[in-house]
Amino acid sequence: MLTMGNSTCLSPCVSLSPCDSLSPSLSPHPKFPNPNPNSFLLSHPPFAPISLRSNQTPSRFKKLLSPNAPNCFVVASAKGELLKVIISGAPASGKGTQCELITQKYGLVHISAGDLLRAEIASASENGKLAKEYMEKGQLVPNEIVAMMVKERLLQPDSQQRGWLLDGYPRSSSQAAALEDYGIRPDVFILLDVSEDILVERVVGRRLDPLTGKIYHLKYSPPQNDEIASRLTQRFDDTEEKVKLRLRTHHENVDDVLSVYKDITVEVNGNVAKENVFEQIDAALTHVAEQRKVNSGSLAA
Ligand code: AP5
Repeated sequence: MLTMGNSTCLSPCVSLSPCDSLSPSLSPHPKFPNPNPNSFLLSHPPFAPISLRSNQTPSRFKKLLSPNAPNCFVVASAKGELLKVIISGAPASGKGTQCELITQKYGLVHISAGDLLRAEIASASENGKLAKEYMEKGQLVPNEIVAMMVKERLLQPDSQQRGWLLDGYPRSSSQAAALEDYGIRPDVFILLDVSEDILVERVVGRRLDPLTGKIYHLKYSPPQNDEIASRLTQRFDDTEEKVKLRLRTHHENVDDVLSVYKDITVEVNGNVAKENVFEQIDAALTHVAEQRKVNSGSLAA
């Protein structure tokens, strides 16, 4: 197994995107008002769709020690052989928190359906206005709005070059079917399992830093200093009343989604400290990569 600094590397580990793109951004984060949330999409020509199915021949992986980012590995490969992960779980189960840790280590592109929707709301578009109505009721936003957003983001060059980590999509059988229709299938489906009383406590204590996009919790992950504390904001749907509606929506749909991914689902105990949750996820991702290495070896032989 390859190691670097204190991190254990996904083995085999792959090259090639610049790791400095993983540093926290100092411009407004997509979770928060952005004058032109579509600017990235508009500034890139449409990317030719390629099949993201996981049964492609695994490529040969290489390790890259990036001088710009001594504590991270970037996972990417020459063509299509990328790590593709879906993370799922009830509201406030810790998806965003774990995505931060996963991207730091594996360099995947984090694509959050909730963040895409909040960016759309911030743009004051018609879709954004409609999305907000549903989000305020704790309901799923119509898939016509969400599906194209997610698909376009998955097909952007960075996702294609580094692999992706899809957070909060799919959340219904029709969304899962849409992904399958697009030929988009993950290597692993991570399900965070957290008890309901803990979820409510996490929701009401959550705060967000509009500058860096970092997620805090007043009790479990408090801000490091007064300057950060003074600028923290709370999401409009982070109340005890709204989380109950969001939980109901989650329970109504979760089994349908799981049935699509049951052969690749890894259930993770999300009730423990975030570092311990990450250990479980890290082990699962390492296992997936090891399996690919074995398959790659047997195909080459
Ligand atoms: P979205 O933004 O995706 O919200 P969610 O699924 O409800 O999940 P959250 O973002 O609330 O929580 P999280 O799991 O990321 O937890 P976090 O890491 O922040 O969606 C919002 C809405 O958009 C939906 O309700 C829906 O209306 C709409 N929507 C989204 N996707 C859609 C789709 N596919 N289709 C249609 N509509 C869609 O952690 C929470 C708190 O806990 C933080 O304070 C954190 O610091 C703390 N914490 C995390 N882990 C731990 C730990 N292990 N120990 C202690 N504290 C922890």
